[in-house]
Amino acid sequence: MCGIVGYIGNKSAVKPVLSGLKALEYRGYDSAGISFISKDKPLTIKQVGRVEALEEELAEQGTITANLAIGHTRWATHGSPSILNAHPHQNTDETIFVVHNGIIENYQVIRSRLQKFGYKFVSETDTEVIPHLIDYYLIEGVSQETQASGVQGTDEERKEAVPISTVTANRSSKRSNLGASAGRVLGSARKQAGTVSFLEAFEAALKDLVGAYAIGAVYAKEPGKIYVARLSSPLVIGVGVHENFLASDPTAIMEHTKKVIYLNDYEVAEISADDVKIHDIQKAIAVHREHEELDFDQEKAVLGDYPHFMLKEIFEAPQTIQSATRGRLRADTNTVKLGGLESVDQQLKYIDRIVIVACGTSYYAGLVGEYLIEELAGIPVEVQLASEFKYRNEPFSRSTALLAISQSGETADTIAAIKKVEGYGVLRLGIVNTVGSTIARMTDAGVYCHAGPEQSVASTKAFIAQVTVLAEIALHLSQGRTRLYKPLLQELLKLPEKAKEILEHTEEIEILAKKYSGYRDFLYLGRNYSYPCALEGALKLKEISYIHAEGFAAGEMKHGPLAMIDQDFPTFAIACKSPLLEKTLSNIEEIKARKGPVLVIATKGDKQIKKLISDVIYIPDTLEQLQPLLIAIVLQLFSYYVAVEKNLNVDRPRNLAKSVTVE
Ligand code: M6R
Repeated sequence: MCGIVGYIGNKSAVKPVLSGLKALEYRGYDSAGISFISKDKPLTIKQVGRVEALEEELAEQGTITANLAIGHTRWATHGSPSILNAHPHQNTDETIFVVHNGIIENYQVIRSRLQKFGYKFVSETDTEVIPHLIDYYLIEGVSQETQASGVQGTDEERKEAVPISTVTANRSSKRSNLGASAGRVLGSARKQAGTVSFLEAFEAALKDLVGAYAIGAVYAKEPGKIYVARLSSPLVIGVGVHENFLASDPTAIMEHTKKVIYLNDYEVAEISADDVKIHDIQKAIAVHREHEELDFDQEKAVLGDYPHFMLKEIFEAPQTIQSATRGRLRADTNTVKLGGLESVDQQLKYIDRIVIVACGTSYYAGLVGEYLIEELAGIPVEVQLASEFKYRNEPFSRSTALLAISQSGETADTIAAIKKVEGYGVLRLGIVNTVGSTIARMTDAGVYCHAGPEQSVASTKAFIAQVTVLAEIALHLSQGRTRLYKPLLQELLKLPEKAKEILEHTEEIEILAKKYSGYRDFLYLGRNYSYPCALEGALKLKEISYIHAEGFAAGEMKHGPLAMIDQDFPTFAIACKSPLLEKTLSNIEEIKARKGPVLVIATKGDKQIKKLISDVIYIPDTLEQLQPLLIAIVLQLFSYYVAVEKNLNVDRPRNLAKSVTVE
């Protein structure tokens, strides 16, 4: 989703901002823009489409001398992708420039109020209210009561404090505080127009906003500063020598600096070339925060000989399993060492319930984790969609642990789910791929996936890493008390070789993908550990090939899905070695009896299946508990080849973004 990059320093600002925007391209976007101040004059350039188009247009401007720039890649939420809707947005005088990631939920109210004061809007976006609102406070003055009290502590409080419709002032009266309750503010002490600093106006505007934001703002009259703010959206400040940066995530600035400061919710920073001043607007205090050193190297995501990142990332499965187990599993001693959980090991002993929260593919990895942890460690596990969990009213006790799973570590719903349990004394754990991401920082303890950057929107190697880590956590929690402990630990270490075996023979999968690419619908079936795989397989197919696909537990067929089956509705059945295999084979028979085309994933050496079905893809034999790691590779490849056959944009499927940073 939207990406933000900013630069202020003694070098040329445009180049690092453009390269930062390119580094954020993987998040997904449909337009891009940049504002910079050159020779004290602000200029904004925007383009629909790729950052390259923006770069070309900038090249036409000739040499640009600018030491300050803010840039943005936009993933459309309010209004279609267009130059007018692209960021940065500005006030009418073109002195205030704003880039924003997030959603301003009360933008309609603010917009109509500002319109009554004569403000003109040119875009359909929620963001455009921000520069106008700052402008308003610069002109109208700021209520000192509002400034001092920081009235809008929580979203609820801020909603209460934004009855803008109760303010009846018109543009000429210029005396009402736009965002605060008339009863509370009118007549209170006010900093008069002309005496309000940009920072004060910026903070006053922020207090009116309900929703989520990471904001970068520039004021043409202060060409040496970038103002930033954050609430429930990712933002990091990069600290350099006589230069500072701002970005949605560290990948955008890592080639320049590894010193970073993460802003917390309700914090505002005033960034100049040599200084970063932070202020907490909720507590109304200055914050001193030292920078952190990023302890990982930027792995350049390069395609190499692969036509798409998705294929490259699928082929990284063997290394992914290796990286997730390296230093954690020891074959000689049969031990599991999860350094990230050591600090909470004592607490873990008293955990009697685990709630896993995640979205999309990470949610399906969580479902595999549910089976694993319950079977190996005997601890009851529930897996909940983060978007549902955050609004549910359910009881939890201190002996419940929340486990958030996320590749990006920035998924808004998952972050909200973790926030929800704050104050309940619940242990918050994370399985995260992106080092230093919001979820990695806000959980009490956790285990990194170490899968390296995942560029393709479709999550592939992250699923493999998440399931591997979940198997390790299940082993760890079992404390060796399950008969499966040793065989599973030993087998997990053999999985990279078995994954390689699949990847050495992808032709069969490619042939079948071509054969089935013309269908409009697809059913995915599995039982037990294969059931979450069926759900994930269906998601992968619809996500990149736009074919309607549904995943079901095979045992559910007679409870409804069987009605859909005919010669035009194929089924992808997962029928690998398992005590329940015979039951799945019966389901396949039932589908065949209704003329439904079937293709199957089976375990190498299974002779029975070939007698039943001709389209079979074999995976190497492994423990049923670890089959999802191999099954997933087949399902990912199948979806990939279908999308390629349909000539679709595999890495950037329509309407989707890699990092879902808004609700
Ligand atoms: O970064 P996260 O793991 O939190 O992302 C969750 C989902 O948005 C993500 O898995 C999504 O479903 C993928 N595009 C699926 O391939």
